[in-house]
Amino acid sequence: MSTTPASTSSSSLSTVGIIGAGRIGSAVAQLAVDAGLDVVIANSRGPETLTDLVTALGPKARAATATETAQAGDVVVLTIPLKATTDVDPAPLAGKVVLDTGNYYPQRDGHVAALDDGTTTSSALTQQHLAGSGVVKAFNNIYSESLRSLARPAGDAERTALPVFGDDDAAKAAAARFLDALGYDTVDGGSLAASWRSEPGRPAYGLPYADGDDFTAARPGPAAAVREALARAER
Ligand SMILES: NC(=O)c1ccc[n+]([C@@H]2O[C@H](COP(=O)([O-])OP(=O)(O)OC[C@H]3O[C@@H](n4cnc5c(N)ncnc54)[C@H](OP(=O)(O)O)[C@@H]3O)[C@@H](O)[C@H]2O)c1
Repeated sequence: MSTTPASTSSSSLSTVGIIGAGRIGSAVAQLAVDAGLDVVIANSRGPETLTDLVTALGPKARAATATETAQAGDVVVLTIPLKATTDVDPAPLAGKVVLDTGNYYPQRDGHVAALDDGTTTSSALTQQHLAGSGVVKAFNNIYSESLRSLARPAGDAERTALPVFGDDDAAKAAAARFLDALGYDTVDGGSLAASWRSEPGRPAYGLPYADGDDFTAARPGPAAAVREALARAER
């Protein structure tokens, strides 16, 4: 099913826009640079506050405003607290694939009744705000340091898989190509409505990539383990 007009040409993936330069944003930036992609990255305080990060990332990376970052990205990773999502201007993201790494934490984001009662999912709300984009939930179920350390080349016996959810099949396919370039297989978890299956507290959240319940002890999580964990989720 295709419901949004996202541009998903695989040949145009050379620049990744990353809105949010925290733990997940900087990990994705490092993987993208390692994959030979150009990175444009933004935070809320302005590009001048990202000098250390872009220096560490090297010449393939530059800092910009969120608007410039949205404009520059062939794909854009949105990796900010859920409560800040409505601050993001949808206009420069229209027609683009947007990977949403977010999770809902009421203590951080404030209570949202439709999330508390399970009527919707945080990524469905993000899709509602970014109505002209193809939103794909990805990277939300893995600890940032594990994301950095578990990337492997295609075909590696220890390749880890990450779930992707979206309402636009072409956007989901583009997200899978992006994750493949970064060093990850993907498991199609279904629509954004189903994305609660990979959220905090569910078996697919962190545990496929952890030693026991220690999220900081990274372990490769193959596609079969991720599929099994998604199937076991209870609401
Ligand atoms: N940490 C993890 O291991 C992990 C794992 C999976 C999923 N997640 C989820 O992924 C999202 C990001 O998590 P994180 O841990 O990377 O967060 P973080 O370390 O707290 O970083 C958040 C980033 O978002 C930026 N930001 C906030 N509002 C913004 C806005 N309106 N425009 C542009 N940038 C803005 C912040 O910039 P300033 O610093 O300038 O305010 C900061 O760079 C969250 O929803 C989190 O729940 C995190």
